[in-house]
Amino acid sequence: MLVQKLTGILCLLGYTSGVHAWGANGHQAVGYVAMQFLSTKSLAFVKSSLGATYAQSLGPAATWADEVKSTSAYAWSSDLHFVDAEDNPPTSCSVSETRDCANGKCILTAIANYTTRVIDTSLSAAQRQEALKFLDHVFSFLLFIGDIGQPLHVEARAVGGNDISVKCSGSTTNLHSVWDSGMINKLLAESYGGSVTTWADNLATRIKSGAYAASAGSWITCSSTTSPARRNIGDDITGLLWSRAITPLHCPLVWAQDSNTYDCSFVFSFTTGSDLCTSNYYTNAVPIIESQIAKQGYRLAAWLNVLFDGATNLP
Ligand SMILES: *[C@@H]1O[C@H](CO)[C@@H](O)[C@H](O)[C@H]1NC(C)=O
Repeated sequence: MLVQKLTGILCLLGYTSGVHAWGANGHQAVGYVAMQFLSTKSLAFVKSSLGATYAQSLGPAATWADEVKSTSAYAWSSDLHFVDAEDNPPTSCSVSETRDCANGKCILTAIANYTTRVIDTSLSAAQRQEALKFLDHVFSFLLFIGDIGQPLHVEARAVGGNDISVKCSGSTTNLHSVWDSGMINKLLAESYGGSVTTWADNLATRIKSGAYAASAGSWITCSSTTSPARRNIGDDITGLLWSRAITPLHCPLVWAQDSNTYDCSFVFSFTTGSDLCTSNYYTNAVPIIESQIAKQGYRLAAWLNVLFDGATNLP
């Protein structure tokens, strides 16, 4: 009886961590990167809204949405953490809002909803903080924008990789968990002294003056081969606030598509039985993980800056 109960609890834990967005470290890193790029009013709002509970930072607040989704009060929010792309990787990769978010509840609609709510002064401080924490997580999304940036969060194949058994540093786990936390935790331990803030600082420096500086501008332009119409974050937000409807947003969809292409180009390119965390797979995944985290943090800052300061205000 006790054994059965324990097994049940362990299964539940395993399942919960399997469907998490980036593990806590990935989400927090996105929030910490964003903090370095906020402009005057967005930074002031973030600090006062999050307050001492979250050390006035998007870093610690980025995991709130994962923590509450297993509570009964927030069970409804679990669909908001991903968009299940009904495509066929590695043969063909695509994300379509009409196909993949048909019930209107996915990471894409969540971004729209919480974008309007975070600046809605008719809402309470608690409601606006909730909206900020959802945006932080999804941009940490693209929890809603953080989660969008993680390849397996825009992937229906075998339930986002939860059912694909693989090895990571000798342990048997699943593909989703390797991307959520297995490879990130190894990278943190090996290269950043186990510190998320050290990692985030390093990524932010690469954006400001290092390897990412040349491409950072393109991360927030939302250009796409499938929808050539030139749209940017400002157009998205203006359209959203003007219509007051939870309309499809262009930029988050383009970013989800961008992230989803890794499902065709890389994610499934491992040899069955190989250890993903100690092989070339890991070495080749690290640049993808780091650039996705940096992109998401930068995009989150751009999004909040447009909302609160009227322009992206980025280097
Ligand atoms: C928007 O967010 C609120 C508050 O979390 C939630 O109650 C509502 O269902 C959301 N609306 C949509 C369309 O997702």
